[in-house]
Amino acid sequence: MSNNSLVSISDFSKDEILELLEDARRFEENPNQNLLSGKVVATLFFEPSTRTRLSFETAINRLGGRVIGFSDASTSSSSKGETLHDTIMMVSNYADLIIMRHYLEGAARYASEFSPVPIINAGDGANQHPSQTMLDLYSMYKTQGTLDNLTITMVGDLKYGRTVHSLLMAMYYFKPRFNFVACEELKMPVEYKIFCEKHGIEYHEYTDFSADVINETDILYMTRVQRERFTDLMEYERVKNLYTLRNSMLEGSKDNLRILHPLPRVNEIAYDVDKNPKAYYFKQAQNGLYARQAIICKVLGIK
Ligand code: CP
Repeated sequence: MSNNSLVSISDFSKDEILELLEDARRFEENPNQNLLSGKVVATLFFEPSTRTRLSFETAINRLGGRVIGFSDASTSSSSKGETLHDTIMMVSNYADLIIMRHYLEGAARYASEFSPVPIINAGDGANQHPSQTMLDLYSMYKTQGTLDNLTITMVGDLKYGRTVHSLLMAMYYFKPRFNFVACEELKMPVEYKIFCEKHGIEYHEYTDFSADVINETDILYMTRVQRERFTDLMEYERVKNLYTLRNSMLEGSKDNLRILHPLPRVNEIAYDVDKNPKAYYFKQAQNGLYARQAIICKVLGIK
């Protein structure tokens, strides 16, 4: 990890990821620890969020730190034309760490290049969402007992979904096999397929969400079609409901299959799936608290 910021999941080595998973496990055993006493953390959300912001803020509160920031950029001086540069410089006068979500790809990287305090990327456009990836890895490790040699099926918006992009990059350490299920308009971008090819990662692309694909899967990673990324809303309307997981589709699935979703869901998972023991998405979101406690301590150099 360079300059202590977390911008992309590739900022972490395999050893760092494994250490963070162990730290998350310890935080799950004991989430209330006074490790951030005297620290102030800023959460700057230029895009909406429920889970990421609230779990980061819960993590800070449970570690004894204090939180400043905004959840709606229209209430900040960016609405008066203040640049991201100046906002970061200002907030770094007040806080020991900045956690930011921004609609522009590369915004967190840019901020990390001049910020006097570490930056955690809480999502930048369609690019990366590395703290989500840590909680996804933690959820996979807890439910599968390993991260190695898993068959992971990603379904839905693979073009704009930053969570699948980050997860794909992180899994390269663990010899995965991927199925990408998406319509033509929302296929996995070519740069991520090149990444797989360069690192010898097996992947298969499908437009059908078939029983054959579900039945060979260990982790079924459903995603929402990201309405906010479309410039043509007619196109969004055409593709928004193409893939919906229903309970009946899980009848032949493996016992160890777990269904993940970064949430929020819209229509991708029918409500009848929620009671299936293989549905793990709400627990996955809870795991975000422990994974984010581990990340905050790491970027602040707290053992
Ligand atoms: N998974 C996720 O990023 O959720 P929020 O948009 O609610 O933070």
